[in-house]
Amino acid sequence: KNIVILISGGGSNMAAIARAAQKEAWQEKRGLRIAAVISNQADAPGLALAKNLGLSTDVLSHKSFDSREAFDAALMACIDQHAPALVVLAGFMRILTPGFVQHYAGRLINIHPSLLPAFTGLNTHQRAIDAGCRVAGATVHQVTAELDHGAILAQAAVPVLPGDTAQTLAARVLTQEHLIFPQAVRSFF
Ligand code: GRF
Repeated sequence: KNIVILISGGGSNMAAIARAAQKEAWQEKRGLRIAAVISNQADAPGLALAKNLGLSTDVLSHKSFDSREAFDAALMACIDQHAPALVVLAGFMRILTPGFVQHYAGRLINIHPSLLPAFTGLNTHQRAIDAGCRVAGATVHQVTAELDHGAILAQAAVPVLPGDTAQTLAARVLTQEHLIFPQAVRSFF
């Protein structure tokens, strides 16, 4: 079964999934293969990381398209070359069209850096700090048409500590993302 991972940036979650796949022999033991890592940013650092992990990579820049629909159609074509059983959004910073979400219904998951349903959207860590939250975290969820909604598959919580900035909190949350995301991908199958 093929897995396609979409990224836009650092790709540390993608790498965490790929390392778990190697370490736990997903291909040999479970028939799961990371078929491709696709980025909408040509300069995403995660692309080099993916190549170093021996994964095949592809770039499809949203800037080459006139509309969200045209980009998503091209992205679907790119993804579907790999006939994926699961499409993983790992720091993929594009809003997807309803058509895209519908096409992958039931086989599209995302990681979001908050304890959903709190703090959908951007700047989650600063908003959690500003709200006086004592805990923050991350959520792996099914992707549905509504942004950062859909069934929750996994969550991890971390404390918000006195003196935290968005950066220190993000780093603490990210270490947990790297644990729950590979687990959630494994559990999907
Ligand atoms: C993660 O915190 C993810 O939850 C958020 O963007 C970050 C991506 O990090 N949406 P990386 O690209 O996986 O390193």
